[in-house]
Formats: sequence, C-alpha cells, structure tokens
Amino acid sequence: MTTTAPTTTPTSAIAPTSTITLRHLIDGRWREGTGPLLESGNPALPGETVASGRTATPADVHEAMAAARAAARAWARTPMHERGAVLAGAAEIVTARAEQWGLELAREEGKTLAEGRGEVLRAAQILSYFATEGDRQAGELYQSPRRGERIMVTRKPLGVVGVVTPFNFPIAIPAWKIAPALVYGNTVVWKPASTVPLLAQRLAEALQEAGLPDGVLNLLIGPGALGNALVEHPDLDGLTFTGSTVVGRSLAARAAGLGVPLQAEMGGKNAAVVLVDADLDQAVTDVLHGAFRSTGQKCTATSRLVLAEPIADEFLARLDARLDGWVVGDPTDSSTHMGPLVSASAADSIRGGIDTAVRQGAVLRRGPDQFPAGAGEEAGTPGRLPSTYLAPTVLELPADGQNHAWVEEFFGPVLAVRRARNAREAFDLANDSAYGLSCSVFTNDLTAALDAVEDLDVGVLHVNSESAGADPHVPFGGAKKSGYGPKEQGGAAREFFSQTTTVYLRGGRAG
Ligand code: UN1
Repeated sequence: MTTTAPTTTPTSAIAPTSTITLRHLIDGRWREGTGPLLESGNPALPGETVASGRTATPADVHEAMAAARAAARAWARTPMHERGAVLAGAAEIVTARAEQWGLELAREEGKTLAEGRGEVLRAAQILSYFATEGDRQAGELYQSPRRGERIMVTRKPLGVVGVVTPFNFPIAIPAWKIAPALVYGNTVVWKPASTVPLLAQRLAEALQEAGLPDGVLNLLIGPGALGNALVEHPDLDGLTFTGSTVVGRSLAARAAGLGVPLQAEMGGKNAAVVLVDADLDQAVTDVLHGAFRSTGQKCTATSRLVLAEPIADEFLARLDARLDGWVVGDPTDSSTHMGPLVSASAADSIRGGIDTAVRQGAVLRRGPDQFPAGAGEEAGTPGRLPSTYLAPTVLELPADGQNHAWVEEFFGPVLAVRRARNAREAFDLANDSAYGLSCSVFTNDLTAALDAVEDLDVGVLHVNSESAGADPHVPFGGAKKSGYGPKEQGGAAREFFSQTTTVYLRGGRAG
C-alpha cells in the first residue's frame, strides 16, 4: 500500500480567535446560563476552545416553554406571507455571513471549510424555500353530498414544538426543522447538540435580526437532560428530533406515552451497490465522497459497499488510488479533503469498532492510522495528527457471517465492502440491514435500476449518485429503523408541522 504526501504544503487558515460566549434565547432576550460551564473545542486543535458559556437548566425549559406558549396565538394568526418574510430576511443574513459562519462551523465541528460554508448556504436555501410557502396551496376543498354545503380542509399549527438537533449539520438540519415549524405557525423551543452549539446561536441570531417576534423561537444550549425535560413538558405539542437511534427511540417512547406527535430521523447504514455495467470512475468518485466527506459523519454517508464480483478488484484498486491523494488534515486549509472526527471519544469508539470487525474476520485494506506522510504538521504536531483523526478506512468483509462493521453505524470514515454474484444478490445485501435511510445504485442497465426502485427498502434512493444529500422541496427520511413518524422537508414537512381541520361549511340562511 503506497501513500503520498499532500501535493501542497498546508497553511492553516486558523487565525487565533477569541472564544465566543454562548448564550440562550428566551422570550426574545439573550442571556447567560446558570448551569455548569460548557466549552466547545476545535477537534483539529485539541485545547482550543471555540465557544463557551454556562448551560441552560431544566428551569429554563419551563421558562422557554411558557414564552413559546404565550407567543403561539399571535404567531399562528400572523399571515403566512409575513411569517415567510421573516424567513426570507433570515436567509439573506445567513447568506451574507456564510464566510464567517462557515469558518466557525469548520472550527467547531471539524468538517472542511468548503463543506462548512456550503452548509451555511444550504441553511439559507432552506429558509428561502420555506419562505415562499405562503404562495402554495393552503388546504383542500371537497364537494359535499348535502345541498348548500362545501367541505373545506384547512391547516393549523401544532402549537409549541420542541426541536432537538445533532452536531453533524449544526445549521442545515436546524434550518430544515425550524423553517417549516415557523412558517406553518408554530412556536419553537430548540435544544441543539452541546458538542457543536455555536451555529445554533448564529441561526437564532439571524432569525431574531430578521424580525421574529419575542418568544417565537427559544434556544437552550445544554446536555441531553434538557431534551428529556422538553419531551416531558406538559405543554409540548410536537417534537422533531435528528440524532442517534438510542436517543431517538427513548424520546419516541416518552413522546408516545404522553401522546405527543414525534418525528425522528435516526441511524443509517447506507449501501452503495456497484453493478457490473456501471461507469466505474463515476461510481468511485461518488463512493469516495459518500463515504469520506464530512469524515463520514452523516446519517446518509455510504458505509457499506456491495461490488459485483467481476468489477470488484478493479473498483477497489481505483478507490485506493483516489484515497492515496485524499488529504486528511486541518479542515480550514483549502487543500484538505477530510478533517477530524467531532471528538477524541468518537474517534476512539470507531477505532474500537474497527478492531472488533477485524477480530471477526474483516480484512483491513487501509486505515485507520494510515495517514499520508507529513499529515499533522499543520496541526502543530510534526508528523502526527491528534487522536481526533482517523484515516479513511476500508474493510473487506468475509462472504458469510455477520460482521460488526456491516451491522453497526460507526458514524465515521469507515467503508465495509462485500462482493455479490449478481444484481439480485447485491440488492439482498443492500437490504441486509435494520436501517433503511439511503442507498446508491450504480448501473447503466435500466432494468436493474427499475428493480432497485422496487426492491430496495430505503427512504432515499440515488441512481448513479452519492448516498448523501437532500433537496428542500422533496421528502427526506428513512425506511425501517432509520426513521419514525412523518418525513421531513418539502410537502412532508407540512404533514408534521400542521394539522387539519375539516370544516363542513353551509350558509346560515335556509333556501
Ligand atoms: C445530507 O445528506 O446532506 O443527520 C444530509 C444526518 C441527516 C442529514 C443528511 N439527517 O446526517
């Protein structure tokens, strides 16, 4: 196995910056917390604090819920076009600050600067999309079997909605939950992941600056206990969650017990299937990006690869060649392809998972400590990267017997490979998972593509493109154990964030 050094000498774009103070937004006022100190670090430069502040407490949840309740009626009665105008204003603010906030995102989360900037712009795109919801259809009108009557189906907000969001898309995922929640007339209490909280503060700033009335959006930064306090609050009318399967299921159980509607996006173990007739260069590029962009920390990342036997060796050789030039290092350097994991503990647990997979018979084709020569110098540790980093890892799994790397979501840059004799077997392998979020199929055979549409049990299917990615105007979410409750985005968001009233409408005068 050969490795090459990065072709350009990395020069860090990380300027020494002051630590940003984390604050909570309750009833339109920014305030410091009273809980324990929370510091979010830069995973590329352990020891550097990006943002810090005291966490919110369960008592703050009560206050935020009360503010959201008090603001609910007036916000629900605000014309949708006015609510949309606030989102449009926020989209402009977010766009204008994409450079600065993209850098903050890269420093706090570890994805590359290009991905960080791209994610901030994506949040703006989502805000813009939902900003025009007022121009779309608002309900339905039916004939009535009775004379002089029409039946109208209108939509109203749920009321006060809890929003719990993950670290890996700290502004895009919140935008795709909060924008529809607000435009459909709900008020929000939001708890973002405490590991990457700064971009939550930025999104809330943009919405407030764009004119959101006090109490309509409340932001509380703190530990998971706040999410539990939120779901147990008697005044909660709905909860939307994206994150781990363990937390999602526990929130879903609590919400079900309390009769609170819940939408949960959870794990994925997404396969890419490369059939014998595929364009191999295109497939290699999309598998590379699907598996290793954002350091594999996407619920839509490609983590399983199923190769048609006749092209398997050739595909793996081409993937290997591309990985030889895949630069791992400082995420704020423009030559870097992949930064660190979000934390040392995340990296350690993935290392443990790789060890287990190897003990169970997986063959390590490359990684997790196989860095290009020289990687790490830019992070201030000559020749070595901090323990938050893992190199792209490719494991080939034995043909039979379950393997840890086939079953468990690692949420990191790890690709588990198996071979299939034909398309039928390849699709069976792709379906061989408790999860069903996303899948890629690479083929030029229309029949095989149509079979994939019929047979693959996933919420998102990519034919000849990478497994990650989502557009704001179409539904996003998983099949099987990946999702629970209605899907997100597009028209699906309306299903969750509003409820119907069926109005039997007659005139008041007889005749
Ligand atoms: C994407 O693929 O661009 O948590 C978005 C996640 C998903 C979002 C994926 N809910 O990674």
